Amino acid sequence: MKHLLKLLDLSKDEIIDILNLADQLKYEQKNGIEHKHLKGKTLGMIFQKSSTRTRVSFETGMYQLGGQALFLSSRDLQIGRGEPVEDTARVLSRYLDGIMIRTFAQKEVEDLAEYGSIPIINGLTDFCHPCQVLADLMTIREYKGVFDGLKLCFIGDGNNMANSLIVGCLKVGMTVSIACPEGYEPDAEILEFVKPYGDKFMMTTSPVEAAKNADVLYTDVWASMGEEAEAEMRKKVFAGFQINDEVMAAAKPDAMVQHCLPAHREEEITAKVFEAHANEIFDEAENRLHAQKAVMVKLMA
Ligand code: CP
Ligand code: NVA
Repeated sequence: MKHLLKLLDLSKDEIIDILNLADQLKYEQKNGIEHKHLKGKTLGMIFQKSSTRTRVSFETGMYQLGGQALFLSSRDLQIGRGEPVEDTARVLSRYLDGIMIRTFAQKEVEDLAEYGSIPIINGLTDFCHPCQVLADLMTIREYKGVFDGLKLCFIGDGNNMANSLIVGCLKVGMTVSIACPEGYEPDAEILEFVKPYGDKFMMTTSPVEAAKNADVLYTDVWASMGEEAEAEMRKKVFAGFQINDEVMAAAKPDAMVQHCLPAHREEEITAKVFEAHANEIFDEAENRLHAQKAVMVKLMA
């Protein structure tokens, strides 16, 4: 594994290896066992979109691993004024040991990897959010102990989260159901990927149908970063695509709830369900730190 650009590139074994290392790093951190695997190394973090969790967990994680992280806003970088990615990649490769990038186009992340000579980590694009799903899988395994036989149900927009969850969950042996409005399905490349998985994948426009017997219920915002202008229109399209009591009743009695955050209460999830499952959701947020540290150690140590 040279980069983390999308989960489509990773094998099941590579995913499980990262999760195992993440568990170990979490244990070590909780027990005060030093793990400075990246001493003297520098991670550049390019942000073309806002972030709370990704920024803080990468920066803290790098510090805990003995290295340092540079926050590079596209507002300040020359890339924001049109310097080509090809040049930015070759320059930053001379200074840094790795780059985390959050941006719009997946192609920009792939181009950084092609032209640079250091590991590139995708910190979210319009297409996918692999770091988030590694933390989600880590959390699911913490709560449920296994992946085989588990069903994850995603309710909402067929966006970056849906795309990555489908790939990650199917690869580790889970079943996936998606409930999304017509016209808001996951990307064509993902719908191609699911074909060999047969009845381990299903898609519907009914949240209750999708939630039947689910072990994990997942949702995300109706309007993602970059779609702010569509927010009001999307509120109408997505009405009802919500994790609420009715959806919870269709799932298994011990179903857990996951949300990548930030959450919009009473839109994609009710405040009641959110608060009832807050422990699971904030464990998931914490696990961003541990999962990303594992990714950085795998790629940069
Ligand atoms: N879930 C997530 O990526 O959060 P941020 O946008 O705050 O980084
Ligand atoms: N789909 C959301 C995820 C945020 C972590 C977005 O892209 O804004």
